[in-house]
Amino acid sequence: MKIISVVGARPNFMKIAPFIKAIETSNKSNTGEKISHILVHTGQHYDDRMSKAFFKSLGIPAADINLGIGSGSHAEQVGKTMMAIEKVLVAEKPDWVVVVGDVNATLACSVSAKKLHIKVCHIEAGLRSGDERMPEEINRLVTDRLSDLLLTPDTLSVANLKAEGVPDSKIKFVGNIMIDTLEANREKAKAFDIAGIINENALQNEQNKPIDTKNGYAVLTLHRPSNVDKKEVLEPIIDFLTSEVARDMPMIWPIHPRTQKMLQQFNLWEKAVACQQLVLLHPIGYHEMLRLNMNATIMLTDSGGLQEECCVLGTPCLTLRWNTERPVTLKEHGGASVLVGNNISRIREEYNIALNVGRVPQRPEQWDGQTAGRCVKAILDFPS
Ligand code: UD1
Repeated sequence: MKIISVVGARPNFMKIAPFIKAIETSNKSNTGEKISHILVHTGQHYDDRMSKAFFKSLGIPAADINLGIGSGSHAEQVGKTMMAIEKVLVAEKPDWVVVVGDVNATLACSVSAKKLHIKVCHIEAGLRSGDERMPEEINRLVTDRLSDLLLTPDTLSVANLKAEGVPDSKIKFVGNIMIDTLEANREKAKAFDIAGIINENALQNEQNKPIDTKNGYAVLTLHRPSNVDKKEVLEPIIDFLTSEVARDMPMIWPIHPRTQKMLQQFNLWEKAVACQQLVLLHPIGYHEMLRLNMNATIMLTDSGGLQEECCVLGTPCLTLRWNTERPVTLKEHGGASVLVGNNISRIREEYNIALNVGRVPQRPEQWDGQTAGRCVKAILDFPS
């Protein structure tokens, strides 16, 4: 059996790493069909710190093919990816294309494969925010509509797919593949030193801030267009962080390239840099982020993956969104995350509550570190 799997952007890399290892394990066992695997990187994320560093630290083999797509509008990224992947699919004729997550590469490659009558498997199927203004939601809807095999991370996703009329035969509940990576890398991450992470990753001129994390610290990440692309949304968030959170504890902020660009464009960059309790880092590696998360007093984020990691680690998490495609991570489902949107009085209220809640680790069903093996088995078992 020949499988092409596709990655494009940072959150894809931690999902593909265990999948590739599970293929190797399956190929070593004496039972079952052998899989020949080709890894395609669309090149949506191309900076070393957004891409190459993850391949290295997670032991992902270099991509067999890089489509070199780079930045651009959504239509440009999707269109260029479709044109490039079509050539690869025609030449390689795989039995399956495996896509992960909800980035532009996921959409583009599932559409191209399906038009060439190649079976599509979606890992992390069935997540729904219900918000069609999010580009990722469009990517999820189209990919799931076209996929032949939908591998879901939780039972809520199964229910979403059933409600959309997807037949049971296409759905397989396998658990969350991100947690395979978390469990495989916990010990390695523990060995990292927090001061060392700050020193090695601080942006220029940020190195000398008097950050002392002994009595707690907050970790921030922000990159959603809905939070960072409008000054009237981003400015009050920066004000809240630099004037209120800064009074309580130091903050560590590995900054996404999009967010850095927008802060500079809105003349907010100087304010962030001037705050002595806020240290800005380059995008950091997987183990560094896991290490920071393990001991953080609180996480403020708009990332889906971090919501999940906070859930398993038990870090109180303020999710700066009005909705989430990952409700299993929310407090009402036993998780550590609460939706606060970008309204400052709501953020403040939940921030004060979160400071009084300790770490409460939670493990949704089948988030057991063994998901990748179930993904490979589901593909091998799929009726041809
Ligand atoms: C993408 C995903 C999002 C995911 C996020 C994680 C889509 C629709 N969105 O959003 O789901 O949560 O990745 O990071 O696929 N840039 C660089 N270097 C890079 C990559 C990007 O400088 O290596 C800059 C470019 O100027 C680009 C901007 O960041 O225009 C945004 O990148 P893009 O890939 O378009 O989307 P993300 O916001 O990263």
